[in-house]
Amino acid sequence: MQWINSRNGYGWLSIALHWLAAAGVIIMLFTGFRADMAGEAGERAARAAAMGLHISFGAVLALIFLARIAASYAQPRPAPIAQARPLQVLSAITHHGLLLALLIQVISGPLAVWSGGRAINVFDLFAIPTPFAVRNEGVHELAETLHAVGRWAIIALLSAHVLATLKHAMIDRDGVLQRMLSAKA
Ligand code: HEM
Ligand code: HEM
Repeated sequence: MQWINSRNGYGWLSIALHWLAAAGVIIMLFTGFRADMAGEAGERAARAAAMGLHISFGAVLALIFLARIAASYAQPRPAPIAQARPLQVLSAITHHGLLLALLIQVISGPLAVWSGGRAINVFDLFAIPTPFAVRNEGVHELAETLHAVGRWAIIALLSAHVLATLKHAMIDRDGVLQRMLSAKA
């Protein structure tokens, strides 16, 4: 069983973390925008419910996102697929950009809750108390701005990432999707 990446391809650890994190990002986008839309519509109870889910999932998924980022940089990178040099550069920028945007969300999300003087309530099972003695408006605004930047960065980069995957799978047929689906020694 090939757990760790090699020059020939991804190992199972990367593959599992990639798809777990991908599902996690979809959950975070869905619950975040659900809260946003309920807020816009003035539905306070629905906004609070969606935000409660967003924060609870966020607290759990943050561990997967951090493991995902660490595992990506701690392992050897498989050799890039043979394609035009500008596309190789674009692909590397997209991958590093996605991981950076994920890190921004994992830091700014909890900070937005804590700087508001609130604890992070995880599915009403337990709460992670805030390190802030009182609400800190400056930090709160910074966290919200970063969280908005990270969100739109993820949406832009993920769109490019998925379109590129479709191009590789349907037009180039060069095994790029295949190597993120099964490990090779
Ligand atoms: C991939 C990770 C994440 C994505 C894509 C994401 C996405 C979003 C979106 C779309 C909103 C908009 C809601 C609105 O405008 O009202 C939002 C808000 C929020 N998120 Fe996240 N989020 C992520 C991670 C987290 C984490 C880990 C936490 C905390 C545990 C968190 C806490 C919050 C909070 C408190 C807000 C409301 C304040 C604000 O709008 O900045 N988020 N997030
Ligand atoms: C459902 C949507 C997704 C599809 C179809 C997909 C597909 C792929 C494929 C085929 C690769 C292999 C590329 C290569 O070998 O050069 C890959 C790599 C990668 N993907 Fe995705 N992906 C998706 C979602 C995501 C999400 C949500 C993120 C990040 C938040 C992400 C981040 C990455 C990164 C950073 C790599 C580079 C490998 C690494 O460092 O682990 N992907 N993806």
